[in-house]
Amino acid sequence: MDLDWEQTEHDAKQRIYSAASMKELQEARVTYLGRKGLMTEIYTALAAAPPEEKPVIGQKANQLKKVITQALQERKEALAREEQAEAALDVTLPGIVPRVGREHLITQTTREICAIFERLGFVIQEGPEIESEAHNFEGLNIPEDHPARDGFDTFYLDAPDPDHPQWNLLLRSHTSPGQVRIMKEHTPPLAVVIPGRVYRPDAVDASHSFMFHQVEGLLVDRNVSFADLKGLLTTFCRKFFGPEIRMRFRPHYFPFTEPSAEVDISCYLCDGKGCSVCGRKGWLEIMGCGLVHPAVFKAVGYPKGKYSGLAFGLGVERIVMLRYGIKDIRIFFENDTRFLVQF
Ligand code: PHE
Repeated sequence: MDLDWEQTEHDAKQRIYSAASMKELQEARVTYLGRKGLMTEIYTALAAAPPEEKPVIGQKANQLKKVITQALQERKEALAREEQAEAALDVTLPGIVPRVGREHLITQTTREICAIFERLGFVIQEGPEIESEAHNFEGLNIPEDHPARDGFDTFYLDAPDPDHPQWNLLLRSHTSPGQVRIMKEHTPPLAVVIPGRVYRPDAVDASHSFMFHQVEGLLVDRNVSFADLKGLLTTFCRKFFGPEIRMRFRPHYFPFTEPSAEVDISCYLCDGKGCSVCGRKGWLEIMGCGLVHPAVFKAVGYPKGKYSGLAFGLGVERIVMLRYGIKDIRIFFENDTRFLVQF
């Protein structure tokens, strides 16, 4: 049998010790010790060898097999150690902080506003964003010839209202239709806040968006007065903006309240002295309010003269902008996390 035993052993060791992975090592094992491998070949040749040569060849074959087996075992252990070292946990490395989500600033603020009213006994209710003219206008004493009803101030859907086929459905232009829904379903006393999105076809600029958020408030009972309204909104503003805030109630007109007012707060920047944020007025408008108009009670079927109520509606974006000095409403809706993660 002419085999260069020394060279074969050298080659085998070389191949085994340079195996870079368990897979390569396994391939080497098959080459040498596999069923069709080199050792099988050698033992087959041994069987066919002349009897006087067998002891020598047999000894060399056994020696070679021993060396190969040993090398395979050694390399296997070394690779296992390497693998383990790689996988070992280094507790001194800095941790990977997961990027967790958070509520949008508008959502946070809406919840905060609602929570203040909840502590005062109000219940949170929601209404649909797709509304009917009956709730968005008629029930709120906004008759068909009122300017707010023409197409410029409201998005109309190309779909008739199933209950009033002469009117189309629309995207609510304020949260006040929620008042109508609540009063149709419940008899006083009641106190609710209605947060939600509203839509108006305004050209988008730094202070206008075609979608924004309001929180509506409604309290109906017997003998509710304008003093109750002032007290309630003053309590709210002190809680929300801080005890130093100054307020004024400015006469205004809304078809669904009488009397009506707009609420101003002292400017956060100049504290009432007059600056560019408040347009030199010293005051910033934050909401509309008033006592519920008798026509609204009539429309929901409440008996005449029995109840009185107060209502208010505030713009969430606006008060967030005032509170944090944010100058452009568009930033709320651009999903720029560099802005959002600050809150
Ligand atoms: N709905 C009014 C608006 O969007 C605000 C308002 C609500 C005024 C309730 C009075 C009472 O401007």
